[in-house]
Amino acid sequence: MEQYAIKGGNPLVGEVEIGGAKNAALGILAATVMTDDVCVIENLPDVRDTNVMLQAITSIGGSVESIDRHTYRISGKNIVDQTIDEDYIKKIRASYYFLGALLGKYKNARVSLPGGCNIGSRPIDQHIKGFKALGADVTIGGGVIVVEAERLHGAHIYMDVVSVGATINVMMAAAMAEGQTTIENAAKEPHVVDVANFLNTMGANIKGAGTDVIRIKGVPRLHGSEYTIIPDQIEAGTFMFAAAITRGDITVKNVIPKHLEAISAKLQEIGCEIDESDDAVRVVATKQLSHTHVKTLPYPGFPTDMQPQIAVTLGLSKGTSIVTESIFENRFKYVDELARMGASIKVEGNTAIIDGVGKYTGASIVAPDLRAGAALVIAALAADGFTTVEDIKYIQRGYEDFHLKLQSLGGMIDIVDSDKDIQKFKLKIG
Ligand code: UD1
Repeated sequence: MEQYAIKGGNPLVGEVEIGGAKNAALGILAATVMTDDVCVIENLPDVRDTNVMLQAITSIGGSVESIDRHTYRISGKNIVDQTIDEDYIKKIRASYYFLGALLGKYKNARVSLPGGCNIGSRPIDQHIKGFKALGADVTIGGGVIVVEAERLHGAHIYMDVVSVGATINVMMAAAMAEGQTTIENAAKEPHVVDVANFLNTMGANIKGAGTDVIRIKGVPRLHGSEYTIIPDQIEAGTFMFAAAITRGDITVKNVIPKHLEAISAKLQEIGCEIDESDDAVRVVATKQLSHTHVKTLPYPGFPTDMQPQIAVTLGLSKGTSIVTESIFENRFKYVDELARMGASIKVEGNTAIIDGVGKYTGASIVAPDLRAGAALVIAALAADGFTTVEDIKYIQRGYEDFHLKLQSLGGMIDIVDSDKDIQKFKLKIG
């Protein structure tokens, strides 16, 4: 089984190019099948989740052609089936975006129900509420959710919780409903805006994405488009915290600094210098970092997907910090692994109380999920000694060439597959 082998201690220094936003890509890929024309998608990150989404498109009869590693030509013209198999939903929850996309275009879709996930229970009641409001019948049985409608009509929908997934899913279906839809209490994340912008380039009429009220005038047909996905806020944020925790100096390039404001503000608060330009942010960490408190919130608040990365950094910062997770209830699973590296963290309900320690020490650890896995990797890069991280398949779901990018910044990290590989790595790094 592949693992990361890591020797900590080097400050990470240099520039790193950030790829396209995975979470925007997942919505956009589902939306490409809403037209019979060709869509060309640029800046698609080459990560496991997007690759599964491309396979799901092929599985229903869509055509997918790679122009280069990050550019794909996709057509939903020959779709023969509106059923997304269990295999895909098991691999990637966001294949539920095909519900909204196929319901909008074909007025019916069948997708296996997403199960629980290791960051907490993740209901889809708001998606269902939205589809029903648009006139769809929703039935659940045998582990499958079926949505179908004679016709979809516009509706006024108030989301009871701020949900990225429900906002995107309902927005896609409403883009091809008859009449006007208003989504209130909509999610405002950059990837919601990116999916809306993409749909608009396909001929949809969506206004207000990025605010909490989205207004959609349905159109009967969408057309092909060429679209470039926005940079990944969370990949960028992860490298920014990698600079902080290793006392390094990293410039994340090809980013939208506005999307990183909550992250930059926290880094400044704990003692990093931040230097922003049009499409880059430099994080310099020269002095001992200090404690802070942080609570995860929907955008523009501090992202839940950055919670493990800030927590591992606060674990090495002076004083006591409090991290409150308000989006997903089970997002502190990495704490036990970090404790094995010497961290002092107590979790009470949705709050972690972190007493900063002077150092982490390398250990054999396991990545519990995507973001926590990435956070443990940056912790290992700051630790004394040697670490192995198992279950890197989670990290590969969302980070392209993670170890190569970290190596280019001076990080001592490699993928190893056997004890022999580990020995070789140890010899190489001395
Ligand atoms: C998306 C992101 C994920 C991120 C999360 C929050 C993708 C593919 N994934 O996940 O990386 O951590 O946003 O920023 O974009 N909820 C309900 N009912 C629903 C839907 C959601 O109660 O019908 C709750 C969830 O349990 C959670 C909260 O709403 O507590 C936010 O979830 P949501 O924004 O929907 O997350 P995802 O779209 O699944």
